[in-house]
Amino acid sequence: MTEASILLFRACFMLLAMPIYLLSFLGIWEPFCKKIFFPFILEKIAAVYNRKTKRQKQELFRNLPEFTSPSGELKLLEIGTGCGSNFQFYPPGCKVTCTDIDLHFQKGLSQSMSQNQHLHYERFLVAAGEDLSQVPSGSVDAVVCTLVLCSVRDINSTLKEVLRVLRPGGAFYFLEHVAADHSSWNYFWQQILYPTWKLVFAGCCLTREIWKNLEQANFSELKLQHISVPLPWMPNKSHIIGYAVK
Ligand SMILES: C[S@@+](CC[C@H](N)C(=O)[O-])C[C@H]1O[C@@H](n2cnc3c(N)ncnc32)[C@H](O)[C@@H]1O
Repeated sequence: MTEASILLFRACFMLLAMPIYLLSFLGIWEPFCKKIFFPFILEKIAAVYNRKTKRQKQELFRNLPEFTSPSGELKLLEIGTGCGSNFQFYPPGCKVTCTDIDLHFQKGLSQSMSQNQHLHYERFLVAAGEDLSQVPSGSVDAVVCTLVLCSVRDINSTLKEVLRVLRPGGAFYFLEHVAADHSSWNYFWQQILYPTWKLVFAGCCLTREIWKNLEQANFSELKLQHISVPLPWMPNKSHIIGYAVK
């Protein structure tokens, strides 16, 4: 498909979403999205995702206990915790610090916490992944980030902070949707939907090649797999999953 056809289809979708663009222009959409729409939709998305990726997440987090510190504690920090959809996959006794830029997921988060009492919840920090200055350097054994690097302002600064807060030998776990193969129809649709998707889903970018940032970050070991999550009719099927060791 040519650049012109991408621009044409993109304009059509922008036209269809014109009411949302208008609300955004009037400064109404973003606060509504943040307070009402996104928290509501995230609970639904998280439930679907956990169903579709349950086996992969179980596999991903299976070796978390190996990163327990010599003192016998497993301190885990989650970036962009949202409604806490990963709690069920963490091992018993794990000490969890939740971070998010947004406080509007508290209802879903409290629900996940009460359903997962095998964990110790230490703190909830309002913090962006790019600035975890409330967390001391080298103080955590594992950092988790799922479906967050698509929305952060700066992936490299976030990975720099991940490396700073991890103790040497600690691990960073990730599951993120990414740009599809450039020769695929899926990538074509990602390019068309990109601006409207970003507006509707609170800054989520469809075409990031996050694996490149991970490869260039200074981890000592990187286990990364490209997978396809069966999300019918959705443009974000292509994912990366894995962990990196500091
Ligand atoms: C799609 S949700 C994913 C939530 C959860 N990690 C999951 O897998 O269900 C994206 C989350 O990232 C958060 N977020 C967006 N930008 C962020 C940033 N710069 N730093 C930290 N969290 C961020 C959002 O507030 C939201 O909770």
